[in-house]
Amino acid sequence: MTIYTARTEFKPKGLVGISDKQVDEHWKLYEGYVNQTNALIEQLKEMREGGEAGSPLYADRRRRQAFEMCGMLVHDYYFANLKAGVDDAVAKQFKAKVAEKYGSFEGWLADFKATGATRGVGHAICYLDPMTGDVNNHFIEMHSEGHMPGFHVLLSMDVWEHAFLLDYLPSERGKYIDAFMANVNWDVVEERTENALARKASLRWAV
Ligand SMILES: [Fe+2]
Repeated sequence: MTIYTARTEFKPKGLVGISDKQVDEHWKLYEGYVNQTNALIEQLKEMREGGEAGSPLYADRRRRQAFEMCGMLVHDYYFANLKAGVDDAVAKQFKAKVAEKYGSFEGWLADFKATGATRGVGHAICYLDPMTGDVNNHFIEMHSEGHMPGFHVLLSMDVWEHAFLLDYLPSERGKYIDAFMANVNWDVVEERTENALARKASLRWAV
């Protein structure tokens, strides 16, 4: 059963400070999350149909699904919000929204970078809560720990070392974060913000 596919047509190219080779290798890992997600959906279905839904093995597969499927989803958002050469001036509503919370865009940015510098492996995600309109930066550990159900993803930044090891040393995560911020597709961030403020869902990929 193939429900999910890696959208190769959207793979970022020509980023500044993040090499195509780095993106290619990262994309291969991402394709693994997509393939494992499809495989686990099928395995769980077969186990249910085989009467194994109450088994410890089924529970183990279910937990594995969270890692693989959340891994796929955070990478969908990550790759979709990367593009070289998009000026942050286009993100008017996003900037206004984060300035309400953090005092300024720069204040938000400092906190987002600090979120990305959290020790451990994970993703920094800036969310908007459609119930309150509040924006907040969260650290998502190991793909699946710390998600905010129902919140809208505005920006997703992978800070696993596999996201930058070909271009930077493990101790240079800060340099990678600066490179990531120089390649944010602010058009996508602005569209996600507009949708979130209108309480409309955003597709993970612009289609
Ligand atoms: Fe990753």
